[in-house]
Order: sequence, then structure tokens, then C-alpha cells
Amino acid sequence: MSQLDTVLSRIDQNMEQSIERWFDLLKIPSISTDSAYKEDCLKAADLLKNTLQDIGFETTVRPTSGLPMVVGHHVPDTLPADAPHVLFYGHYDVQPADPLEKWNTPPFEPARITGEDGIEKVYARGAADDKGQLMTFVEASRAWIETAGHLPVKVTILFEGEEESGSPSLDAFLEENTAELSRDVALICDTNMWDKDTPAITTRLRGIMHDEITVIGPSRDLHSGLYGGVARNPIRVLSRIVASLHDDEGTILVPGFYDGVADVTSETRAQWEELNFPMVEFLGDVGLSLPAGEAAYPALEQLWARPTCDANGIIAGYTDEGTKTVIPSRATVKLSFRLVPGQDPLAIRENLREFVRAQLPDDCDVEFMNFGAGTALEVPLDDPHLQKAATAMGAEFGKDTVLMGNGASIPIATSFKEQLGMNSLLIGFGLNDDSIHSPNEKYNMPSFVHGTRSWARILEALAV
Ligand code: BES
Ligand code: MN
Repeated sequence: MSQLDTVLSRIDQNMEQSIERWFDLLKIPSISTDSAYKEDCLKAADLLKNTLQDIGFETTVRPTSGLPMVVGHHVPDTLPADAPHVLFYGHYDVQPADPLEKWNTPPFEPARITGEDGIEKVYARGAADDKGQLMTFVEASRAWIETAGHLPVKVTILFEGEEESGSPSLDAFLEENTAELSRDVALICDTNMWDKDTPAITTRLRGIMHDEITVIGPSRDLHSGLYGGVARNPIRVLSRIVASLHDDEGTILVPGFYDGVADVTSETRAQWEELNFPMVEFLGDVGLSLPAGEAAYPALEQLWARPTCDANGIIAGYTDEGTKTVIPSRATVKLSFRLVPGQDPLAIRENLREFVRAQLPDDCDVEFMNFGAGTALEVPLDDPHLQKAATAMGAEFGKDTVLMGNGASIPIATSFKEQLGMNSLLIGFGLNDDSIHSPNEKYNMPSFVHGTRSWARILEALAV
């Protein structure tokens, strides 16, 4: 039996224990956006520290101005000094679980349920994003070290606890620990497969810019009978502004928004066409049927290569049961823009604010709140690690690995490139229907099993 076969059968034999350890992590409500869960976040960091230490990583929990990072090193003497050294990244924090009443099982009590499709799934907040994903790497490492005595490459692991709240401490941490974290390549396990049978490496992610806009009208809430007609309603002002962000074709009207945006190359367009994106199913799964982005672009390009503007929430006026005849004093919208390569998030923020101010009536005020921004990412397709990992995953799934884009954002991949000069391989085993950030988040058991086995293979492939 080859060393790899020994590792793979070790993974299979110990799968139930691996699942139990994953569940121990899922039971901790490590919600980073809500300070009420700070202790739980620290508990999750501690659990991971102990887990890595058990496996044989030299591990520390590292304070930041927010929630701590967990850093582990595995640099065995047995490996040649010039053996490759990779950095693995995952995040131990999760999104809030609300709305709680929409969950079929409690979000922090992982439930194993076999669906009508015959596939076993694990339901819990963080099952996929990102605890299931990061545990695939931990358990693959465990199997390697338990059977071979060490990993086939040097590995540094970085677990973050603030990914879901915009990574406020990340850049400073990378800045202070550049030498310790700059490795040959980063492995980020926080993305999806193409579909449940087809492994994928994500080579493009969109950037993001958040801004919150509050329009302030009257100095206090008013009776809409006593004042209505004469007094300006900030909901009306804000709604017009929100409506003015797009034209009827889906084009975004903030001046300069498309500066620097290029169409994808004809090669990329051809490769994406070959993927035969099942648009009707993709929208049908979420109860829709009509693509609503820029009409001139195919749906996959709307998702992966075109920028967006979305209102994520509107807060204004009376929203409880029944009615209340009120003209509110303030109206707020939370906006986010997904950005593509070439766009400058800070210039767009300035242009947006100017665009809003220009539409404001003289007797209204506006307040803006900044919630961070990051540029888009394109991983160079000629990175030597990429093909090795693609081949290794292809062997696990018995199917060629697809290179894909994703419309979501993983700001750390850009930080790795800009601050540490390191490319990232975005490899993950999630699926579109995992309901991440939603009620009833799940991770398929085959994602966990084949994900763990894939990492065992990738680690070996990166060694040569
Ligand atoms: N893991 C997701 C991003 C993701 C999901 C990428 C599926 C590819 C496939 C990540 O945790 C996430 O949700 N990111 C946020 C970042 C934001 C808060 C800055 C996002 O994209 O909204
Ligand atoms: Mn994630």
C-alpha cells in the first residue's frame, strides 16, 4: 500500500471520530458579529488550539484588538529544509442564526439527516461556513501525521475569528506577523464545488464595498395627518435615491462606477460557456425565473465578472404590527457593492456619497457610515500549485476539476496577495444549496468525506 493509500484508509476508518470532533466545534455558538457571544468565540479558538496541539502542531492563540487568531506550525525535522511550506486559512466564527423560528433543528445542535435524495446532511450554523470546511483540512492532517509521522509539506495554519464581521483586525495582524505567515502559497477552504459531483478551484472572487446611508428629515417623528403633505418624508427621499441607483437595464448609475471594469477575455467567456450553467435551475431553486442583472451579460458573467449594487436592508418608520400614522425623522439603507477587478472601492464610496448628496433636498441631512471595503481577486492560472491541486482533487472525485469564479468575497485572499505577496488556492467543498448565512445551513456528508480525502491527496501533490 502506498503512503497515500494508508492515509486515505485511516481517514475512512476514523470518520466517525472526525465527525464527532467537527460536531464539538459546531456546538459552540461562535457568532463574531454579536458581542454577547464573545466567550463562545474564545471557546472555539481554544478548542481549535487544543485540537491542533493534539495533532502535533505548535499552536498559539494570538490576541488581536478583536477576537483572537489561532496559529499552528508543523515544520518537521524529517522534511528537507527546502520542502514547500503552505499556509492554510479558515474561520471559526459563524453568522448569527436568526431568524431562529425558520430552523427545523436547533442551529447549535448539529443534526444528521438523510434527505429524499439519499444524501446525508449535517444541519447547523457553520456546518459549511466555515467549520465543516476547515475541519476537512484538520482531519486530513491528523490522518497524515498519525500514519506517516508528519505531513508531506510544511504547514502553517491560520484560523480567524472575525471573518463574518468584516475582518477588522486582520490587516494589522498580517502586518505584525508577515515573516511568520508568508509562505509559498495559501490554501483557503471557504468556497464551493461546481456541483455535488464536480470538484472546483475558484480563481475569481468579487470585492465588496459597504456603505450605510441615513437621510434625516424632520427633527422628530411627526403625526402624518398634522404634517403630511407639507413635511418631507425621509422614506420618500431615501426610496428615490435607492431607486436611482439602477436603470431599467440593470446598469448602475453611480458616476464612474464602471471605471476600470473590463469584459472577460474571449477564452474565459468560452470556458464559462462550456460549463453550461443551469440558470433556470439556479434561479428556480430560490423561487425565481428571470435574471435581474445587466441584461447585456450572460448569467454567469453577471455573477462572477460584473459588479453589483444591492440594498441589504432598509430601516425606517413604523414596522411593528398594525398601523401608525407617522412621518419618521430618519430613514436608513444598508448598501453593498460587489466589485470586479479594476474597480477602486474607495473612489466608488466617494462617488456614491456625492451622488446621494446631489439628490438631497436642502432641508434634509445625510449621514454615512463606513463598513469596510476590499478589492476583487483573480488568481493567476499559471500558479504552479494550481494544476497539482486540480489533478489531486480530480483523482478523488473521478472527474476533472473545474476552474470557476464566485460572486462572493473572501477579503483575506486579497490581503494575502497584497500584504504577503502570496497567491491563494481557493478550494472548498460547499454547494450552492448549503444555505450559508440562512436558516437550516447544512454541509453534505459526502462534502466532508471527500473534502478530507481531497486534502490528503493535495498535501501529497504539493510536496513534489
Ligand atoms: N465563505 C463565504 C464566501 C463564499 C461562499 C465564497 C461560497 C465562495 C462560495 C464567506 O464567509 C463570506 O460569506 N464572505 C462575505 C464577506 C463579507 C462579509 C466581507 C460575503 O461574501 O458576503
Ligand atoms: Mn466563509
